[in-house]
Amino acid sequence: MDLAALRRAYQALPFDISDAAQTPFEQFSSWVEEMVAASTELEVNAAVLATADGRGRPSARHVLVKGADIRGFAFFTNYASRKADELAANPWASLVFAWSPVARQVIAEGPVERLGAPESDAYFASRPRDSQLAAWASPQSRPLPDRAALDAAFAASEARFADAPVPRPPGWGGFRLRPVRVEFWQGRPSRLHDRIVYLAEGGTWRRERLAP
Ligand SMILES: Cc1cc2nc3c(=O)[nH]c(=O)nc-3n(C[C@H](O)[C@H](O)[C@H](O)COP(=O)(O)O)c2cc1C
Repeated sequence: MDLAALRRAYQALPFDISDAAQTPFEQFSSWVEEMVAASTELEVNAAVLATADGRGRPSARHVLVKGADIRGFAFFTNYASRKADELAANPWASLVFAWSPVARQVIAEGPVERLGAPESDAYFASRPRDSQLAAWASPQSRPLPDRAALDAAFAASEARFADAPVPRPPGWGGFRLRPVRVEFWQGRPSRLHDRIVYLAEGGTWRRERLAP
């Protein structure tokens, strides 16, 4: 497959500073609504989370963003995973929402902090039981001898909690990225895309257009 020959022309509508909401959170929410209305197969709240270790070496993976409001973007994971280790060493990250079916991209960057236990508990309690049991069974990012070991750990979690509610494992919970920079990218014809960036400045947001 010749990847260089793959080429899509973007025909999307203009996106100007005059169209952009006062805050990136309002803008994000209106693009999410449009993305949901567009009913693409894409998971709207899936984003690539980029972190870097203490030596500045980056790594990236998808997460599901479970909350987006003026406090920032919340996601949940294992606190002993590679991403969590990197966030402990370097509590700064970037989240990329790549909404290619509508030729849009949103990139948020900023410091990341752990959610408080009550917030993680509340989200954990809302998860399907199998997902809750899986959180107990999976030492995320650690080597496993084989698939059978994972299945056995899941079965052990099922037996351990039997018919009782499954509490949040102490090593599992949420993080929140508090953005200081959020970019909204809208694909346009002739590769003359629209890029509007929000920069946090002393409690307000400055908006700026960037060259594509
Ligand atoms: C669409 C999608 C959504 C995902 N959502 C999450 C998530 O919300 N939390 C999570 O820990 N892993 C999620 N994963 C798995 C991660 O991408 C990754 O494999 C895992 O978190 C381990 O990453 P790490 O070893 O870099 O810490 C998701 C994967 C995909 C493809």
